[in-house]
Amino acid sequence: MTIRLGDVAPDFEQASSAGTIRFHEWLGSSWGVLFSHPADFTPVCTTELGLTAKLKDEFDKRGVKAIALSVDPVESHTRWIADINDTQNTTVNFPILADGDRKVSELYDMIHPNANATLTVRSLFIIDPVKKVRLIITYPASTGRNFDEVLRVIDSLQLTDKHSVATPGNWKQGDDVVIVPSLQDPEEIARRFPAGYKAVRPYLRLTPQPK
Ligand code: BEZ
Repeated sequence: MTIRLGDVAPDFEQASSAGTIRFHEWLGSSWGVLFSHPADFTPVCTTELGLTAKLKDEFDKRGVKAIALSVDPVESHTRWIADINDTQNTTVNFPILADGDRKVSELYDMIHPNANATLTVRSLFIIDPVKKVRLIITYPASTGRNFDEVLRVIDSLQLTDKHSVATPGNWKQGDDVVIVPSLQDPEEIARRFPAGYKAVRPYLRLTPQPK
């Protein structure tokens, strides 16, 4: 199934290392990060899951629940989690879906047959509190993802959902943001951005990040 930005994230029920997950119910009103791994007991995946566990406080601050997936069974996940905890010096604190029947992998198009016929690639979806898909990234098995970038995108989405701004390339918390081009009314701009703005071009207006 092809999933595009703005689509409702498909719901599913699947086994996991933390029991059966009914996805929408499990998400509740939180943001979600759903990310797939090629297989258990693989080195890059082990580091990615360790990183995600260590970032729990950062995810919690932003109201985000993380959930991983690989096509191996729960029993394998349980043994792998012990290894991740041991080797990455952390405690895995989120579920890993056991997608042996490929139900979720197929629903989210996580198997790319020209990359690998049976294993998932490194897909990652950010899902907002109304269950809309807001980011899709796909990495190859050989390249681990940057979870600081995932947090950065969540910061951008949460900021731009609240204010009439967008975030420039390489933006990070505290940097200036851009006023969206559709906002043209001078009174509304003054009301929304009391700190003022700098028009580098009429279409490129920078303003301090709103609180
Ligand atoms: C890994 O997670 O380390 C990995 C998985 C599949 C292919 C290459 C690396």
